[in-house]
Parts: sequence; C-alpha cells; structure tokens
Amino acid sequence: MIFDRVKSLDAILLTAQRKSLHRTLGAFQLTMLGIGGVIGTGIFVLTSEAAQKAGPGMVVSFLVAGFVCAVAALCYSELASMVPVSGSAYTYTYAVVGELLAWMVGWALILEYAVGASAVAVGWSNHAVGLLRGLGVDFPATLSNADALMAKVQMAFGADVTPDLITATQVGGYINVPAILIAGLVTWLLIIGTTESARVNAVLVAIKIVALTAFVALTIPVMNAENFTPFAPTGATGVFGAAASIFFAYVGFDAVSTAAEETKNPQRNVPIGLIASLLICTLFYILVASGAIGSIGAQPVTNLAGEVLRPGTPELAGRCATIVASGALEPLSCSKEALVHVLDAINFPAVGRLVGLAAVLALPSVVLIMMFGQTRVFFTMARDGLLPEKLASVHPRYRTPHVVTIVTGIGATLAAAFLPVGRLADYSNSGTLFAFFMVAVSVMVLRKVDPARPRPFRTPLVWLIAPLSIVGCVVLYFSLPLTAILILPGWGAIGLLVYFFYSRARSHVGRGLTEVPEPEAYGEIDPPAPGTR
Ligand code: ALA
Repeated sequence: MIFDRVKSLDAILLTAQRKSLHRTLGAFQLTMLGIGGVIGTGIFVLTSEAAQKAGPGMVVSFLVAGFVCAVAALCYSELASMVPVSGSAYTYTYAVVGELLAWMVGWALILEYAVGASAVAVGWSNHAVGLLRGLGVDFPATLSNADALMAKVQMAFGADVTPDLITATQVGGYINVPAILIAGLVTWLLIIGTTESARVNAVLVAIKIVALTAFVALTIPVMNAENFTPFAPTGATGVFGAAASIFFAYVGFDAVSTAAEETKNPQRNVPIGLIASLLICTLFYILVASGAIGSIGAQPVTNLAGEVLRPGTPELAGRCATIVASGALEPLSCSKEALVHVLDAINFPAVGRLVGLAAVLALPSVVLIMMFGQTRVFFTMARDGLLPEKLASVHPRYRTPHVVTIVTGIGATLAAAFLPVGRLADYSNSGTLFAFFMVAVSVMVLRKVDPARPRPFRTPLVWLIAPLSIVGCVVLYFSLPLTAILILPGWGAIGLLVYFFYSRARSHVGRGLTEVPEPEAYGEIDPPAPGTR
C-alpha cells in the first residue's frame, strides 16, 4: 500500500507543544500578516497581464480568483485550527491522506513559494527601474529583462521570425540584474536571521494600502463607461485565463496559517486572519481594476494580423515597443508597472512615482515572506527524513536553516534572472492550485475518518464549500497557459522519482520513528515567521 503512511495527528500536535513558541499574535496582527503577504506584484504588475488576456472583463477575473481563494481559505481554516503547526498544507496532508500525497504537496509548494518569490522579485525590478528612470537614471534595458534572450531562443527553436520578434531582439535584454540583486539580498537576510518585525510589516501594509487608496481615489472620478466596451473581447476563455494568472495576486494568505504556532487562541484567530485579509484584498483589487480600466481602457494588444498576443512573450514586448515608438499612448497591457503607468497617463505623474516608490519599498517583504515559507516547508520535509538531513542543519551562530535557504535562494535567483514575471506567476499558480486542491480533499477525508476530533473552526457547509474549492482549483488550473499546466506534472514526475529512489526508504514515519523527536536533535530554528514579532 502506498497510501498507508500517515503521520499521527497527535504526534504532530505534541511536536508543536514541545516547540512551545511564544503565542503572541492576535486576530489583528494575523490579518496584517495576511495582507502583508498578499498585496504585491500581482496587483502592481500583473494587472497588465490580466488586461491583455481578458480586456475589461478582468474585473470578473479578479472576482473569480478571489472566490476560489475564499473557499480555499475556509478549508484552510478548518485544518489550521485543528492542526495549528508549521508546514502548512504539507503537514495537513501528511496527517490526513498520507506521506506520498504530502510529499507531492510539499514538492508543489516549492513551486508556489520559490517560483512565486522570483515573480515578485521581477515585479520589484520593474518598479526599481521605473523609479530610477523617474530620477533621470536610465538602467540599461539589456540588463533589466530577458526578452531578447527569449526571442533568440524561440527563433533558434524554429519560431516564425515576425517583425515583433525582431524588435524584441533589438530592444529587449538578456538578464534581469535588479531581480538578481533583490533575490540575493533577501536570501542573505534570511541566512543571517533577519525576519521583518511585526512593526515593519504593519508600516509596509499601511504604505501599500495608502498607495492603492490613492490610486482608486484618483482613477474612479475619471472613469469613462466607454472604456468597458467591448467588455470581454477574448470571451470566457480570456476571462478564466486572466483569473488563473491573477490568482497570483491573492496567494500569500496561507502565510497566516504557517504562523498558527505563534498565535493566541489560534482556533478563533487563524480563521479570522485568513478570511479578513482575503476580503480586504479582494475589495481593493476590484476597485483598482475598475479604476484602471475605466480611466485608460484595457483592450488587449494584437499583432499585425489582428490576433491577440500572449502576455509575457517577446512578440508582445516587440509589438509594445513599436506602439510606443509611434508616439501612441502605451496600452495598459504593455506596461511593466501597471498602476504607475495609469497614474502617469491621467496626469498624476508625481503620485505615480510615489506609488512606484511604495512598490519598491514593500515588495521585498513579499519576496521575504515567500522565501521564508519555502525554507520552512523544506526544513519540515528534511526533518521528517524525506529530504537529506543536511538540508535541515541549522547554522551554529545564526540559528537559521542556512543550507535550505541557500538552495532556495539560488533557485529563485536563477528563475528571476531569466524569466518574465507573468510566466513565473503562472508556474507558481500551478503549484499553489494543487496544494489548495489537496487541502480541500483533506478536509473532507478528515471529516469522514476522524469525525470526533474537536474542530474549533468548522468550514461552513463543508460538503458544498470543499467541492467548490476543488472545482475552482481544477478550472483555474486548466485555464493556465499550456506550459504552466505541464509544469506541474513535469515537476511532479521529478518529485516522484526523488520520493521512490530517496525519500521513501529514509522517511521517519516509514522507519517507525514515530515518537516525537526532541527539537535539539535537529537544532532549533530561531527566527520567527516574518511579521510575527
Ligand atoms: N500575492 C503576492 C503578490 O501578488 C504573491 O505579489
């Protein structure tokens, strides 16, 4: 039997008690933590991508993605309140549906967190370059994206040589240096044990909220109803495709559940934190998207043959360069800093610059939260014997899991150096959707196999909500671009090889080492989750 290795819930809970981290967080701090992890590159940058896919219909895409996250959050809440320990979806599934699927979830969370961190790093790079430009410093395009490199690779692999592709080779770049710098800096901060304090998180959340509020306040009054027609030029496929990509803008609320061990009365506060942060972000996103569409329009960019170009491609980058060179207003879909661009276009360049500054200040903390989540999932998997124990070693001086942090940092930095933000976000989404899917499955399985266990928070209407979450995840997953759809099984196949050739024989649960290890056996990691102290 391959589904028989289940880690006992009691053992997991005992581990949590032994660790006895201080429980200091309340519902308000958790909500701040959630908002801190959620608002980032998604809304500041990927709004352009959503416009390119769905046109004004992207408002519906934001609603769809928010709805899928809301039902997922209700499922997360039940598990997080029952199993208030670190490790997120990986730990829950280990206790419920067994080691193999837990392994697959942990493996998928690598996509969510590490690739997600690189997407946010690229979003930061866009804003840093824009801000420098505003100050009169032109950072070379050859060193701030990899569009030319991608165009050349595509041509080398036999793609049609279109005028847009040629333009991309002329105006695009080869490597994203600012993204490398920020990913490298965050890795270093995590190694030396810096995690941002609750106070810094609160300040950054306030900066983001002020920036989005200013955006809404300036764009809503200049909205023009005509900009909403045609509403869905790419049809339902486009709207769902945009929802699948913009889903990235909501990811990060699960950071709240990873702080469950440090929460006072987690049974009450974790669900409140998850759901409140999601509701607040959804409200802002809908307003921001409406303001952007209404003020400057959001029709997708087409090639000379009239076909809508795919976002994140060198063809689109080339087409956009041609449009801008013609003196026309840069379409929303072309902008690398969507919100800054809209404010520029409606004649508030100074506010635009401040919004850009807000992104430059606040996005590194999102990179940090995502990389931190990744290192903790890796660490927990290594501590369970599923990954080499060397990875779980703790630095003698900094008391951080420095080896996993370096491995994660190198991976995230390489991805950020060479891939466009939208593509990274889509890859991250494919992993996240799988994890959310498994969480919904686990809630239902646990209701059946362990109905008597106390459930401080019960997902309301679970037999409706959990299946809705499953359907939502499946629909969004299949609405992703083909490469992102294929990434998950490809990555999963590598994961299965590692599992069957390495992890299965070494698993602590498999070897019967089910008694709870003393924390000292692995070294205790010191820094708390970002934004929690
Ligand atoms: N939701 C986060 C962002 O949009 C990951 O940056």
